[in-house]
Amino acid sequence: MKEKILITSALPYANGPLHFGHIAGAYLPADAYARFERLKGNDVLYICGSDEYGVAITMSADINKRTPQEHVDIYHNLNKKLFDKLNISFDNYSRTTWSGHTKTAQDFFLDLYNNGYIEKKVEDHLFSKEENTFLADRYVVGTCPKCGYDNARGDECQKCSASYEASDLKNPRSKITNSPLILKPSTHWYLRFDKFKDKLNKWIKDKPFKENVLNFSKEYINNLKPRAITRDSTWGIPVPLDEAKGKVLYVWFDAPIGYISATKEWAKKIGDENKWKDYWFDPKTKLVNFIGKDNIPFHSVFFPAMIMGQNKEYKLVDDIPANEFLMLEGKQFSKSDNWYIDLEDFFKNFSTDQIRYYLASIAPENHDSDFMFKDFLSKCNSDLVGKLGNFVNRVLVFIKNNLDKKIVDSKILLDEDKKFLNDINYLIDEANNAYSSYKLRKATQIIMELSSKGNIYFDFKKPWVLKKENKTDELHTTINLCLKCIKALSLISFPIIPTSANEIYKLLGFNDDLNNQNWQEVKKLELNVNKSILEPKLIFKKVEGKMIDDEIDKLKDTNEEKNLPEKSYEPLKDEITYPDFDKMDFRVGYIQEAHKIEKSNKLLKIIVDIGFEKRQIVSGIAKSINPDDLIGKKVIVLANLKPTKLMGIESQGMIIAAGDDVKNLEIPFLEKVEKGSIVS
Ligand code: 2FM
Ligand code: ZN
Repeated sequence: MKEKILITSALPYANGPLHFGHIAGAYLPADAYARFERLKGNDVLYICGSDEYGVAITMSADINKRTPQEHVDIYHNLNKKLFDKLNISFDNYSRTTWSGHTKTAQDFFLDLYNNGYIEKKVEDHLFSKEENTFLADRYVVGTCPKCGYDNARGDECQKCSASYEASDLKNPRSKITNSPLILKPSTHWYLRFDKFKDKLNKWIKDKPFKENVLNFSKEYINNLKPRAITRDSTWGIPVPLDEAKGKVLYVWFDAPIGYISATKEWAKKIGDENKWKDYWFDPKTKLVNFIGKDNIPFHSVFFPAMIMGQNKEYKLVDDIPANEFLMLEGKQFSKSDNWYIDLEDFFKNFSTDQIRYYLASIAPENHDSDFMFKDFLSKCNSDLVGKLGNFVNRVLVFIKNNLDKKIVDSKILLDEDKKFLNDINYLIDEANNAYSSYKLRKATQIIMELSSKGNIYFDFKKPWVLKKENKTDELHTTINLCLKCIKALSLISFPIIPTSANEIYKLLGFNDDLNNQNWQEVKKLELNVNKSILEPKLIFKKVEGKMIDDEIDKLKDTNEEKNLPEKSYEPLKDEITYPDFDKMDFRVGYIQEAHKIEKSNKLLKIIVDIGFEKRQIVSGIAKSINPDDLIGKKVIVLANLKPTKLMGIESQGMIIAAGDDVKNLEIPFLEKVEKGSIVS
């Protein structure tokens, strides 16, 4: 049965260029999910748009001597272009300055108002005479009322963590112009979120949200208070009440309504104005909001409450894949600190699929993660070129050189062939599970696992020998299964690297592309037997070290790091003899489990199978390595190290890692050797 799936990505502010952190958090995961669900034959609508109101925008516009409209026009277009370059497949990319959005947001306000959920209050607010505007919390700095820190933020002191109202700060100033602020009474409308506590608690209890999203939201619901949903400004959606001249809706009130208005705009564009209702008013629609973790309460608490206060029964969100943050080489992306990647340049040097693959492989799903240039090089070269590209290419070149490009049929399947086919089918289903649960990292690992299995099978069957020995049936079976594996690879990699997946698929002689195919159909792995493959070509380009060094230099050029002294190396330890070395028994271990150790940010507890027994190893690598990335990997274990206890947990050996700093460790992974093998 076709499922209706409405997917949204957080509406990005049209107030500056987006960076890869945003993309890895809320856009690429949503796009891969949308592509996957379309491929599954579901009725998918993927919606987004620019978030264009709010004080932050008026301030940036002022600083840049533009009107707010000119300002958002620039960034709306710039960000839209970036999404195009990244091949993000929105069905509609709207904007909140669209007139249809104004009406939708005002109607939302009026329903809440008429249903008794909105109240008017006059209170003192901070006002900047110089900027002639009231300033809300984030745009205010001052002296902390608790510890006296003189640059404390408007809502929370970054020194002592005290939390307060902006008006409690001593000497409050504008964050942007530093001008002093005064208290001035102003009338505002407050949404009685507290009235929704019971309904929200009941609704949220069986939601499949990630544990952190659920816990955080529950806590939020229990502390709900009325919140001002209006602001004094000329830039925003006018509050639809006669007595509210000069007041606009708070940007966080109107932004999520943008999901609905963007759907209306989509319906209008396709010439079927009421079609949006099919999604928003059908309780069977699955609504999934992809966001960054800083947007959680707005999607899990505030917007659901706003919907509960409407007269019409809008769809409430079904799942909120909220991602953590992506950093750049260990620090937050920041244009103002020059710690960012110039995307124009980056796209000149690297392909969309290289970028998409890398971002997917490091998606910050459970922990903050890091974009590291050297890791980007290594994933592009060893994964895309070395495993996936290499497998596709060697099979196709073999067919060209030995079988006159013909797609051959399989004959009798030997045990190893059956096993290979089982592995292929198993990994297709695993990829299906990963995509259904928004796990992009896992999906990239599965793509690589299948590529490696293909390479290992090809090496093991040695089709060049089969050819030489005239074992035609076995040769044909081998090649047929390799082609099936390639077809499977194109299928499971499509949501992440759609362009390359289509190229691979077409090399197998299929005319159409995967956008128009169905997962279940492709999964049958049928081939155009007796037809021809296309001329083999390399799908992925190698990334040269020089290109990466240039990127790193660009980053460091604008930062103080360039003044750091030359790297110094640890002096060598005392010389040892071979018998000293020979005392150490290194074995290949297969990692079955890896978990963070509570109360430690450094240690992981790892269960590793060294062939003849399982070991529990406590390893100080948590700051560099995500436990999920270790599962299923083969590593080198020092197996005869005397057991010891770390934080009260027994550690029976050591896993070998390289790097100078606990934040910068890498573990060598092994591919072909069996667990338990001796390392010497
Ligand atoms: O944090 C942000 O970038 C917001 N503009 C997200 C808005 S999401 C939605 F509610 F519109
Ligand atoms: Zn303080």
